[in-house]
Amino acid sequence: MKRKLLGALLSTAMVASLTVGCGGGNDTTPADTPADTEAPADAETPADNEADDASAPAAAGGGKIGISMPTQSLERWNRDGAYLDEQFKAAGFETVLTYSDNDSGKQVNDIQNMLADGVNLLVVAAIDGEALNTAMNEAAEANVPVISYDRLILNDAVSYYVSFDNYTVGKLQGEFIVDTLDLANAGDTVYNMEITAGDPADNNAGYFYQGAMDALQPYLDAGTLNVVSGQTDFDSVATAQWNTDTALERAQNVLSSYYADGTQLDVWLCSNDSTALGVAQAVTSDYAGSNSVLITGQDGDEANLKNIVDGVQTMTVYKNVSNESVVTLALAKAILAGDTIDDSLVPSFGIECAFDTESYETSEGNKCPSFLLVPNVITKDNLQDLVDTGLYTMGDDGYLSAAN
Ligand code: BGC
Repeated sequence: MKRKLLGALLSTAMVASLTVGCGGGNDTTPADTPADTEAPADAETPADNEADDASAPAAAGGGKIGISMPTQSLERWNRDGAYLDEQFKAAGFETVLTYSDNDSGKQVNDIQNMLADGVNLLVVAAIDGEALNTAMNEAAEANVPVISYDRLILNDAVSYYVSFDNYTVGKLQGEFIVDTLDLANAGDTVYNMEITAGDPADNNAGYFYQGAMDALQPYLDAGTLNVVSGQTDFDSVATAQWNTDTALERAQNVLSSYYADGTQLDVWLCSNDSTALGVAQAVTSDYAGSNSVLITGQDGDEANLKNIVDGVQTMTVYKNVSNESVVTLALAKAILAGDTIDDSLVPSFGIECAFDTESYETSEGNKCPSFLLVPNVITKDNLQDLVDTGLYTMGDDGYLSAAN
C-alpha cells in the first residue's frame, strides 16, 4: 500500500540540505529571491516591481510561473489549469502551463523545461507524489520555490502545500452515508456496501479513504454495514489513475460475482467523481436490484452533477478550485515578495482556509506548511449553491454546466 498518512510509511530518499522547502526548517523565503534567479530579460523581477510601486500587486509585471497539471483526461484539472493560468496572468505574471497525460516521466520533463525556461516559481499537481525527485532536486538547485498544488509531492524541495482538507473530504462522504441511512438507529437492519478508492500514486487518495472509513468503521464493526465482496482494504479497492473505465470494470466484476443472486446493494462509497461515474454506469447497467443505490463522489464534475439531478449519484464533495487557485496566487506573490508566511496571510485570501503545519510531511519528520481549504457536500437539494458561486449555470433542464 502506497498510501501515506501522517506517520505512515514515508520515502526517506529525499534530497539533503535544501534552502527552500518543507524539510528546510520551514524556511519561508527562497534563498535567492526571483531577482537573483535567471529572470527573463524583458521582465521586471517581482523584487524590482515592489520597489517601483508598493501599492501594486507584489509581483505584478514580472516573474514567470510554471504550472504543471497532471492530465486533461480528468475534468477538474482542466478547470484548475485554466483558473491558475488566468489568475496568474491577470496579476501580471507570465505563465507556462503544461498537462502531462498522467505520465510521470513526461511531468518530470515538463518541469525540467520550465526550469530551463527560467520560471521563478513552480505550481505542481503531481501525477505520482514519489516520482518527481529529479525535477524537484533541480528546482531546489535553482532555488525555484515549489508550491505543491492539491496533491502533496513527497520531496523536501516543496516549499508549501495548497489543497483542501483531504481527510475531511472522506469524512464528509462517510458521515453522509451514516446520516442518510440513519445508521445510528438502524437496529438489526444490515446495509450492504461496496468501496471504490483512488489512485495509490496520489498522496490524497489515502486521506480520502481513511476519512471515510473512520466515519464508517463503527458500523462495519457492529455489522450494520456489510461489505459483501469482503474487499475493504485500500489496495483491493484502489483505482489506478482514478480511471473511470477501471472503476467501471471492477464494479461490474463485483456486481456479477456478489450481487447477481439478488443480494441487495445499498451503498457504494466512491472517493471521487471520475470513479463514481464508472460505478454509477455499472450499477445502472449491471445491478439486478431495483432499489436506488447511495453513491458518493467528489469534485462536482458536470457528468456527475447530471447524475445527481437524475438520482443516479447521491452526493459529491465539492471543492471550489477557483478558490484554490486564488490562494495559490496569493501565496506565490508572498513567496516571491519574501514575505513572512504563516497564518497571518490567511485573511488576505478572503477565503475560508486553515494554515496547518502538522498534518502533512514531505519526508519523515519534515512537516510541510499547508493552506487547506474547506470542502462542502452537494446533493440534489443544494445544487443552487454551486450556481451561486458564479462558476456554474443551470439550464432549463435543471442540469448544471461549468460557466466559462
Ligand atoms: C483530487 C481530486 C480528484 C482526483 C482525481 C485528487 O488528487 O484531489 O479532487 O478527484 O485527484 O483527479
